[in-house]
Amino acid sequence: MGRLRLGVNIDHVATVRNARGEGYPDPVRAAEMALAAGADGITAHLREDRRHISDFDIDALADICRRRGRPLNFECAVTAEMEAIALAHRPHAACLVPERREEVTTEGGLDVVRGQNTIAPVVRRLVDAGIRVSLFVDADEAQMVAAKAVGAQVVELHTGAYCTAVRERKPQAEVLLNNLRIAAAKAYELGLEVHAGHGIDYETVKPVAAIPELTELNIGHFLIGEAIFIGLGPAIQRMRALMDEARATKAA
Ligand code: PXP
Repeated sequence: MGRLRLGVNIDHVATVRNARGEGYPDPVRAAEMALAAGADGITAHLREDRRHISDFDIDALADICRRRGRPLNFECAVTAEMEAIALAHRPHAACLVPERREEVTTEGGLDVVRGQNTIAPVVRRLVDAGIRVSLFVDADEAQMVAAKAVGAQVVELHTGAYCTAVRERKPQAEVLLNNLRIAAAKAYELGLEVHAGHGIDYETVKPVAAIPELTELNIGHFLIGEAIFIGLGPAIQRMRALMDEARATKAA
């Protein structure tokens, strides 16, 4: 089991900035701090409505990631506009996510099974441009098979349902964690790289990080919230330490 990478999602620094329409807090400064604190890469979601990250932020984030030799994981919807922006920047990775209700599966991932015809040509053009394409999907074996069929190199498993169940002390949390394990094994068997993200906090990170097929976690909202209390650098370092502990325990 190799080292698990941590991608830090800085979208919600932009949410706070946009709440006042001022220029601060600056998500680019947060990205610089995250990299300095041990993040392996930066994740940012340019939403169609630009509710947090702006086009200008993406330009600046692409620039600092390039200068620091760190990957930018550009999250976007499957639209012509977002495809054009991805192709203009050629980030290390593009993670295709659902934004419209009809693209969403039960748990909230991209419905690749139903959307294959729309998703496949976009994946092909991004892959041809040298971008690593990831699909944000539910822990469902049919979605893994469809992700492989459309030519994605990576799947990011949606951990939101599991993390919510843990926080709400719901009995189905174990089943949801097991679904993540089964989906990760299936994706790996198909030759896909396997990432995970959404809703992860200090409590849920260890069971998720212990899934051996995972190579990357993308974590944002909890870290930005925690940064209010202990600072962004320490919050990231603590998360990183928990990830490493989970892997060390599993290997022991
Ligand atoms: N991965 C993907 C594909 C996402 O869309 C998000 C949320 O933007 C995350 C990871 C990070 O989720 P959270 O902010 O809940 O940690």
